[in-house]
Amino acid sequence: MIRNYDVLVIGSGSAGLTLALHLESKLKIAVLAKRNLEEGASLYAQGGISVVLDKKDSIQSHIEDTTRTGVGLCYQETVQFTVEQAKSAIDWLIQEGTIFTRDKSTKTHYHLTQEGGHSHRRVIHAADATGWVVETKLAELVKQRPNIELFENHIAIDLLTQHRLGSYAKNNQCLGAYVFNTTTNKVDTFSARYVVIATGGAGKAYLYTSNPDVCTGDGIAMGWRAGCRVANMEFIQFHPTCLYHPNAKSFLITEALRGEGGQLLLPDGHSFMHLFDERKELAPRDIVARAIDHQMKRLGIDHVYLSISHKPESFIRQNFPTIYTRCLEFGIDITKDPIPVVPAAHYTCGGLMTNLYGQTDLPNLYAIGETAHTGLHGANRMASNSLLECLVFARSAASHINRNIIHMPQPENLPLWDESQVIDSEEEVVVAHNWDELRRFMWDYVGIVRTVKRLERAKHRIDLLMREISDYYSNFCITHDLIELRNLATVADLIILSALDRKESRGLHYILDYPNQAKVAKDTILIPKDYYATHYSRNE
Ligand code: FAD
Ligand code: SIN
Repeated sequence: MIRNYDVLVIGSGSAGLTLALHLESKLKIAVLAKRNLEEGASLYAQGGISVVLDKKDSIQSHIEDTTRTGVGLCYQETVQFTVEQAKSAIDWLIQEGTIFTRDKSTKTHYHLTQEGGHSHRRVIHAADATGWVVETKLAELVKQRPNIELFENHIAIDLLTQHRLGSYAKNNQCLGAYVFNTTTNKVDTFSARYVVIATGGAGKAYLYTSNPDVCTGDGIAMGWRAGCRVANMEFIQFHPTCLYHPNAKSFLITEALRGEGGQLLLPDGHSFMHLFDERKELAPRDIVARAIDHQMKRLGIDHVYLSISHKPESFIRQNFPTIYTRCLEFGIDITKDPIPVVPAAHYTCGGLMTNLYGQTDLPNLYAIGETAHTGLHGANRMASNSLLECLVFARSAASHINRNIIHMPQPENLPLWDESQVIDSEEEVVVAHNWDELRRFMWDYVGIVRTVKRLERAKHRIDLLMREISDYYSNFCITHDLIELRNLATVADLIILSALDRKESRGLHYILDYPNQAKVAKDTILIPKDYYATHYSRNE
C-alpha cells in the first residue's frame, strides 16, 4: 500500500525523536523504528551530554577541546554552532521534564562529570543511565502527539528518488522510501515531502561492539545508494572499556568512571596509562584504546582491568548504579573487585555529508545523528559530544523543514514494491554465515591498528561478499536479516575504501605502514558516481 506523509523520519533514537518533536504540529509525520521505539544506541548512553554550565568553563574551551580531539579535521563552523547551541538544547530537555543528576555540594545546579579530552567538568548526566532517561522521556512525549504516527518493527529498505524511478531529470530528489513491515512481511511505499535519515551508526560491522543490534549503518548505505557523498568512514571509534565477560553482550563501562578516578591496570596490578599520555586515563579514546590494545598484544592477555574500588562504596553505588548492578550479575563487585575490560567498536565518526541544517546532497533528504557527517568530530569524537550533536542538528533540521515545507508538493504516483521476480529463500544459512564472516574480518583486518596488507585482504573479502549478497538480494524475498546484511556490507566496503585512501595515521585511523601524520589534514570523501564508475569498469 501507499502511505502519504509530510515528513518521514527513519529512526527513533534521540536524533529522530527530537526532530519529530520540533516539527510543527500541523504536519503529518511518520516515525519508523526497526524494533521497539526506544531501542537504539541512544537508550544505552551512559556518560552524558557535554554542555558548558560551570562558571569556570567556557564555550571557547569546549570548542578547543573538541577541535584538539578531532586532530585537524573538525569543521570550525560546525563545532562553534554545536557548542553554542548546547545550552538551549539541554534547557529544552529539562523543560520537557528530563531529570538530570543534581549537585548538592557545589553552587552548580547540575552535577557535571568529566570524560576523556575535556579540560573541564562539562558532562551533564543522569547517574550512569543518561541515555535511558533521555530516550524514554522523548518516547513518552512523542506518543502524546496526535500528528505523529509511530511504526515499530518497520525497516526502511531503500529511498525512493526520481532517478530510481527511471526519470533522469536533472533535479533528482528524494520522494519517500520502501519500508518492510517485519510483523506482516509486507513492503509499503511511504511517500513524503521530506525524508529524514536518523538511523544511527554501524558498530555491528564489527565482531565486538558496544552497539545494540539495530546499529547496522542502514541510513549511510541507503543514502549512498541514493547518490549522497559519505565522508571519513575510516574513523571508527573503539571505546576503550567494554566489560569482558562471555555472557555480557555489548556492555559498556562508562568513561565517566575514569573521570571519577577509575584506573586502568595490568593483571599484576600496575597502572600503565602514564606510559602513553600525560593525561593518563583521561586521554582521548583513540590513545587509551591503542594503549590497551598494545598491552593486550604485548602480554598475550584477553583483557586489562579497570578499578574504582579505592573510592567509597556509597560513592560508587550512587554514581554508577547501572554498572554496579550489571557487574554484580556476573559476580563482579565493583566496590571491591577490578573490572575486566576490552576495547570494542563504539561510534561511526563518518557518515552522510550534511550542512548545518542536516541537508544531504540529495534535495529533500536530511540526515541527523550518528548517521551524519557534520564535521563536528573530525578524526576522533570527544566523549559525550554525540548526544549533543543529535539534539542540536535535530532541532536545526526541524526548523529548516518547518520554514520550507510550504513550497514542497506531495510526491504522487509512486510505485509499489515489486516482488514478482523473487522467491522465498531456502538458504537462510548463507545470510547468517556472511554476517559472521563480515564482522570477524572487519575486527581482524580493519580494527584499532591497521596495515595496508590487512586492509587489502579485507577489500578482497568484501568484494566477494558483496557479489554474493547482491545475487541473493536479486533472487530471494527480502527478510530483516538480509536488509541489514546488505547495508552492513556496503558500510564495511566504505570503511575499507576510506581506510585504504588515507596514507597517514591520524586520530582513530592508525596504520603501521604510514605511522606519521600528514602535514595537511584532508577529509576522505567518497562519491557514489565515481565509485560505481570504477566498480563497473573493474568488473568488465
Ligand atoms: P540511535 O539512537 O542508534 O537510533 C537509531 C534508530 O534508527 C533506532 O530507532 C533504529 O531502530 C532506527 N533504524 C535503524 N535502521 C533503520 C531502518 N533501516 N529502518 C527504520 N529504522 C531504522 N554519546 C554521548 O554523547 N554520550 C554518551 O554517554 C554515550 N554513551 C554511549 C553508550 C553506548 C553503549 C553507546 C552504544 C553509545 C553511546 N554514545 C554516547 C553514542 C550515542 O549514544 C549515539 O551516537 C547516539 O545515541 C546516536 O543516536 P541516533 O539517534 O543517531 O541513533
Ligand atoms: C561513555 O559513557 O563512556 C560513553 C560516552 C560517549 O560515547 O560519548
